[in-house]
Amino acid sequence: MNWEKVILITGGAGFIGSHVVRLFVKSYPNYRVVNFDKLTYAGNLENLKDIENATNYEFVKGDICEIDDIIDVFEKYKVTDVIHLAAESHVDRSISGPMEFVLSNVVGTVNLMNVAKNVWKLIDNNVFYHISTDEVYGSLGDIGYFKETTSYDPRSPYSASKASSDHFVRAYFHTYNFPIKISNCSNNYGSYQFPEKLIPLMIHNAVNKKDLPIYGNGLNIRDWLWVEDHANAIDLIFHKGKIGETYNIGGLNEWTNINLVKKIANIIDEKLGRQAGETEKQITFIKDRAGHDKRYAIDASKIESELGWTPSIDFETGLNNTIDWYLNNSEWLEKVISGDYQSYYENQYLNRD
Ligand code: NAD
Ligand code: DAU
Repeated sequence: MNWEKVILITGGAGFIGSHVVRLFVKSYPNYRVVNFDKLTYAGNLENLKDIENATNYEFVKGDICEIDDIIDVFEKYKVTDVIHLAAESHVDRSISGPMEFVLSNVVGTVNLMNVAKNVWKLIDNNVFYHISTDEVYGSLGDIGYFKETTSYDPRSPYSASKASSDHFVRAYFHTYNFPIKISNCSNNYGSYQFPEKLIPLMIHNAVNKKDLPIYGNGLNIRDWLWVEDHANAIDLIFHKGKIGETYNIGGLNEWTNINLVKKIANIIDEKLGRQAGETEKQITFIKDRAGHDKRYAIDASKIESELGWTPSIDFETGLNNTIDWYLNNSEWLEKVISGDYQSYYENQYLNRD
């Protein structure tokens, strides 16, 4: 087959990556989609069962920290474009072990660009699209929004590693004319998210009558983005965004953690036929996350006005869909937490006051 493009999607077995892989495999039969993933605790091929036999899909197990793994996949598949999502993504893990974040998020990103830069002659329409986070901008007070022009002020080892990789990506554009695009988005939610992150963790614990651990006073604010809306935004930016540009993506959907967890608890009461208010009793306030950023909120007006993107569903619908998905996919959930996750989780929470 003469593929129109061969897109290497790194981190395609993770939460957002699996949605991006699925969208591209289904929407673009003329593209070959190569999912390149190390399969860390967060990467699960279970996330892609429905498309694993598609003729335009390949999976390659590899590590972006290993230059030979990257060279091999570029040579074998003649990669024309990269959508780079592979990263260590959990802030709490970056606090207890920052070095993995430096390696995968910073060194891995530079490795990938070095191989692409050597292989691509930079005369074709290649794209290296780097997926980043709003956390690089730091923490907001009660008012204001992160814009593409907001200064970087990362405050956790995770966000410092993502900020560093963003700087390298832009430096390659300016120095080598390397064809990059970047997007920075807010907190994603939806199906296939590893249950260490707030929403799936709370659903899992609520259903299983475990504590619902709220860090600090629960008044920190996040701006929640439906993962499929994020995947659509990535599709738009990949195809229509300008080389060298950055786009912010957000849900226009701010929630304090405590109100969000109460909402999840109330929906679970309804869906499981529990008494109103029963699940909320599982809420437990625990020691705050070190350096906990107060508020994130994205100004998404650039991608809306330049590329015509808007969120497709409201939060009520998205959250209900997400809870239904977790209730209907307990087998997936048990599989992904069956490794060493339980002992990690117990260390993380049970040793905290
Ligand atoms: P995730 O943790 O669910 O998945 C990360 C994937 O990367 C996993 O499949 C893992 O196996 C793979 N990976 C990790 N290290 C690797 C390595 N060295 N080599 C190859 N593969 C490796 O992450 P996610 O939540 O899907 O996030 C994807 C990207 O989006 C990340 O770059 C993250 O920083 C960014 N992001 C995430 C969010 C969010 O809310 N989840 C928001 C903004 C930005
Ligand atoms: O903003 C984008 C970022 O969102 C991404 O770049 C990260 O990869 C992603 O993990 C996410 O980071 P957060 O730290 O915001 O997400 P998390 O789900 O870990 O936590 C959301 C909020 O909930 C945060 O204020 C911490 C709080 N929290 C989290 C957990 C896991 C709790 O109160 N209790 C918990 O058990």
